[in-house]
Amino acid sequence: MRVKAPALIDIHSHFRDPGFEYKEDILSGSAAALAGGYAAVVCMANTKPVIDTAELVRAQVKRFGNLPVRLYQAAAATVGQQGKELTDFAALKAAGAIAISDDGQPILDAKVMYDVLQAAKDAGLPLMTHSEDGRIPGRGSAAEEYMVARDLMLAEYADAPVHIQHITTAKSADMIRQAKRGGTAVTCETCPHYFMFTEEIRAEKGSIAKVFPPLRTRRDADAIIEALADGTIDIIATDHAPHSREEKAQAWEFAPGGMIGLETAFAASLTALYHSGALTLSELISKFTDNPRKLLNLPETDDYIEFDPDEEWTVTEADIKSKSANSPFLGVRLRGKIM
Ligand code: DOR
Ligand code: ZN
Repeated sequence: MRVKAPALIDIHSHFRDPGFEYKEDILSGSAAALAGGYAAVVCMANTKPVIDTAELVRAQVKRFGNLPVRLYQAAAATVGQQGKELTDFAALKAAGAIAISDDGQPILDAKVMYDVLQAAKDAGLPLMTHSEDGRIPGRGSAAEEYMVARDLMLAEYADAPVHIQHITTAKSADMIRQAKRGGTAVTCETCPHYFMFTEEIRAEKGSIAKVFPPLRTRRDADAIIEALADGTIDIIATDHAPHSREEKAQAWEFAPGGMIGLETAFAASLTALYHSGALTLSELISKFTDNPRKLLNLPETDDYIEFDPDEEWTVTEADIKSKSANSPFLGVRLRGKIM
């Protein structure tokens, strides 16, 4: 069977360009995106330098001009992603930034987060938050959940919209469900690794399984699937986070967190969400297309994909177009393939 659908949109990728081109650059990242069925990708700001000025945003947008995929730039919320001093959201927007995010770094100071919420609302830019306090030992679920709780309360109090990135636990999903019922303008995303895998794969995959926030329990993964099914989670993003072989070959404590995901996100979601009966095909597609498009205020386009929802394949290095190969999906059998 061949199904036609709008091309996918990833609101959360790390293309590492400028500064860490040995992990990925805008060309290799675009190739990974195309392979996965994406026509549009939002690049996070945690490059070197951090994209925190209008000048840097303008330079990025200019470089994005001649690529096979539409790339968009998220700009940092705080100077150098240090969580202290706000960047100039209006200027960043005028330069072409599509969203504000300090992703990779949490905004630990609640007063700064409150000001960021206000400023993003004033500028009319979507704010995407990495709600996780990395100082909590092991980055256990509480490290995420107390930040999600805080950010929901602050968003409600500021009467400002917030998009919470990569949520991973049953409690995070529950809090967002309640907040939505209460009328808070919150949207959120999860990533395929959080419903496909659990912390147990660490024994088999080693540092490849290291990611922030971390993989959780089966109970959490099931709750994430439930939250996708009932509409609590609006968007499936990749958090495509390339790291080199050498970096990922290090012992757990020293290896950087992150995994690539563009090539496998849609197929993994078909496998775990559609073929399991948790979501209909159109519900699943909307989490990769309409919902991201609405969050980013993008127009509809004619870009489309075709995929075979039933084709089975095993992910191998040949399927990876990224410069990096830190994928927990290597060797995993998936059902559903982008054509
Ligand atoms: O695992 C992660 N890797 N989480 C993040 O938030 C950042 C990302 C990265 O940039 O490597
Ligand atoms: Zn993040």
